[in-house]
Amino acid sequence: MTASPALPPPPLPGAPFVSYHDGQLMVEDVPLQTLAERHGTPLFIYSKAAILAALAAYQRGLAGRDALICYAMKANSTLAILKLLADAGCGFDIVSGGELERALAAGAAPGRIIFSGIGKTRQEMRRALDVGIGCFNVESVAELDVLSEVAQACGRVAPVSIRVNPNVDAKTHPYISTGLKGNKFGIAHEQALAAYQRAAGLPGLRVAGIDCHIGSQITAPAPYLEAMDRVLDLVAAIEVAGIPIHHIDFGGGLGIDYNGDAPPAADALWAALLARLDARGFGGRALMIEPGRSLVGNAGVCVTEVLYLKPGEQKSFCIVDAAMNDLPRPALYQAFHRIVPLAEPAAGAAAATWDVVGPVCESGDWLGHDRALAVRPGDRLAVLSAGAYSMSMASNYNTRPRAAEVLVDGNSTRVVRRREPMQDLWRLESI
Ligand code: LLP
Repeated sequence: MTASPALPPPPLPGAPFVSYHDGQLMVEDVPLQTLAERHGTPLFIYSKAAILAALAAYQRGLAGRDALICYAMKANSTLAILKLLADAGCGFDIVSGGELERALAAGAAPGRIIFSGIGKTRQEMRRALDVGIGCFNVESVAELDVLSEVAQACGRVAPVSIRVNPNVDAKTHPYISTGLKGNKFGIAHEQALAAYQRAAGLPGLRVAGIDCHIGSQITAPAPYLEAMDRVLDLVAAIEVAGIPIHHIDFGGGLGIDYNGDAPPAADALWAALLARLDARGFGGRALMIEPGRSLVGNAGVCVTEVLYLKPGEQKSFCIVDAAMNDLPRPALYQAFHRIVPLAEPAAGAAAATWDVVGPVCESGDWLGHDRALAVRPGDRLAVLSAGAYSMSMASNYNTRPRAAEVLVDGNSTRVVRRREPMQDLWRLESI
């Protein structure tokens, strides 16, 4: 075990909505201890103001443009969060029939929903056509053919964008980089014109736009600018071929601060992108974007309780009651999340170095490696930046019920998902 670090820690991701007041970690005006005592742990807690502030940065950046922000709901698909974003003017980017039904259940307007993903089933296509979704982002020529067939069979015309793969390196984790040759997503830049010509000739389709998404947790503007140039080159070529492109969808992907990362603010990024769009003569074009993580990631934390401390010769373990089934990002991507105590440690408090791990029976079940923490059993910790790709990726591995979720608004709180009842875990099974 080693001594506490000398340098002051960087500001908390999620500040000012996640911050210490009088030594207590708060989300907005609510101490997390109070919520943990009331609702138990593990517990996800989200700040409404943080979500709306993140959205406002996009809205400022796109002000005055014909632009639709389609929240990529895979990041966090909890109904209350969808409702909040729908009420604030968002449409939704969905990737499954389940997400479609969730968005509708939250009150989304079907015309503001776009349907991405490489493996849409005929059934999903039919349902999306029946409810009248805004656009299909089509990812292969084979999908164009099937969608046209399905649309014709139900007497409809499907609005389509083709997701083009611009072959741009988003410089992010390989699992979340999607715009390179060799990724399974989109239609290669070189084949896009031919795909548009095919789409334009299919009776069940109406070409509406063009789409690209190059990856996630992108922390610099350069890959976006590069992708934008590639997409605009294509728009020009497609329109020369006589196929008008109504809207351009630039996808999502903007990163957040997990550990001192400094991605551009959404409004600054869009100032740069719009300048490029204007310079290239596409300023009046209808725009869509599909942000996920950057709207919700730093609006959420996961509170967990320390169960046991297990000091060892090589490694010392701090065993907590949240695990890889609740917070899968570290296990899946070796992702870093800040982990901080709910009670702010006194200046100079003796910290030791711990691997913060969950109870799941896998060595991959860790939440943080080598963290300096002054902790005792019964203390509570918050895993920060847990608003995106955490609850939405949670599982029941080890027959662990999923956590509860609370939405904070100022000093008021609402349970937006109850802790999953144990019996529900085998409700659909029979012996
Ligand atoms: N649009 C499409 C077509 C996408 O595939 C994605 C994310 C987004 C938008 C939203 O991207 P965002 O703005 O959230 O970066 N589970 C991983 C991230 C997977 C991202 C998948 N696609 C993680 O936890 O890092």
